[in-house]
Amino acid sequence: MRIVLGVGGGIAAYKAASLLRLFTEAGHSVQVVPTEASTRFVGIATWEALSGHPVSTTVFDAVDTVNHVRLGHEADLIVVAPATADLLAKAAAGLAADLLTNTLLMARGPVFFAPAMHTEMWNHPATQANVATLRARGAVVMDPATGRLTGKDSGPGRLPEPEDIFAAALAAARTDSVPAGPSGLLSGKTVTVTAGGTREPLDPVRFLGNRSSGKQGAAIAEAALAEGARVRFIAAHLEVPVPRGVELVQVETALELREAVHEAAHSTDVLVMSAAVADFRPGENAETKIKKRDDGSDPVITLVRNPDILAETVQNRAETGAGPALIVGFAAETGDGSGSVLEYGRRKLERKGCDLLVLNQVGRSLVFGQDSTEVRILSPHDDPQAEPAALTGSKAEIARHLMERIAAEFSGSSRGRDGSIPVPPG
Ligand code: CTP
Repeated sequence: MRIVLGVGGGIAAYKAASLLRLFTEAGHSVQVVPTEASTRFVGIATWEALSGHPVSTTVFDAVDTVNHVRLGHEADLIVVAPATADLLAKAAAGLAADLLTNTLLMARGPVFFAPAMHTEMWNHPATQANVATLRARGAVVMDPATGRLTGKDSGPGRLPEPEDIFAAALAAARTDSVPAGPSGLLSGKTVTVTAGGTREPLDPVRFLGNRSSGKQGAAIAEAALAEGARVRFIAAHLEVPVPRGVELVQVETALELREAVHEAAHSTDVLVMSAAVADFRPGENAETKIKKRDDGSDPVITLVRNPDILAETVQNRAETGAGPALIVGFAAETGDGSGSVLEYGRRKLERKGCDLLVLNQVGRSLVFGQDSTEVRILSPHDDPQAEPAALTGSKAEIARHLMERIAAEFSGSSRGRDGSIPVPPG
């Protein structure tokens, strides 16, 4: 998600640094927009270093990028913390003298304020009227926490803890973004999607990775959200933004992804394994950088097998009777002299034991990172004589097809599942 973090001029501005960290560590891209007054508490250099983006308080910097329009338009969420009495008043009145107030006026997505001020200021009818105005317009204004304030006084007016602002702001973004109501094909269901490519470290600076962009996984998460599902998104390395509205779990390696899947498996209805999981990892992860050797000899890297997470989850379900009702695997095949893409796909479906397998044909320029793709959805119940239909389209279209197929599996209209997994009606 693209987040604008507005910082108002109060002593609590320093706490916004922790909030920024929480957002970036959760995988969000954060543009900090401080007010001029706030830079007397925390300087621009701090925000630039922590966010990795240039920072300005005024509409007169980076004029060529039309920053004062662009930031508000592009933001999936605007969070103002701390929101001072002055800033709330300006936002309520629609004033636009600096970059932050301009951005607030240009906002297309949810706007969230975390106020911080002295108790008298918060309780003042002027501030209360401004808060009521902002809330009436759809902004979320948190109530301040109660506790020690800047001086010796204490009472309501303290900035809520960064963790609380983080959770409440993301919840506000989610509520705003999930369009499907009870009519969604997957409403009431939890869908866990793994996406992206795992990275297996060799040393602190090098890793073994793969070409997966995470586009298909992100499209699946978006399609599941659009069908009303609650979506857990287990993200390895991605080259696309994290879809708005998902519950994000970030991982790097196959072993971390395995742990996240195991954790999610007992409370999810559907598991879609679209991540490109490394089959092997270096046997050793050196604690320090591997250096060139003086004797000219080359290092030898030994690879060890990673567990097959998909097959393992299917097996756990069979052994315990608990786990996702529907497990969807992906296969990326090139075909070769010993078998066609379809033959390899069918063998993989059987070997992994999943309920559906999305079969992709891959090559150096096919599928990875591309917008359009061709897949076949295989099921163990397919007629082996019949060729499954090829679905061609954008990754978003393929994702929508997959959601329809998943919903059909739940409603039993596509086939009766023979396993012991209970399949609740639509
Ligand atoms: N997968 C997994 N754990 C692994 C490797 C793959 O869960 N260690 C999952 C992928 O997320 C995908 C499916 O298995 O859903 C197929 O992955 P793929 O790499 O195409 O197949 P492999 O099992 O690696 O088989 P092969 O390398 O022989 O093609």
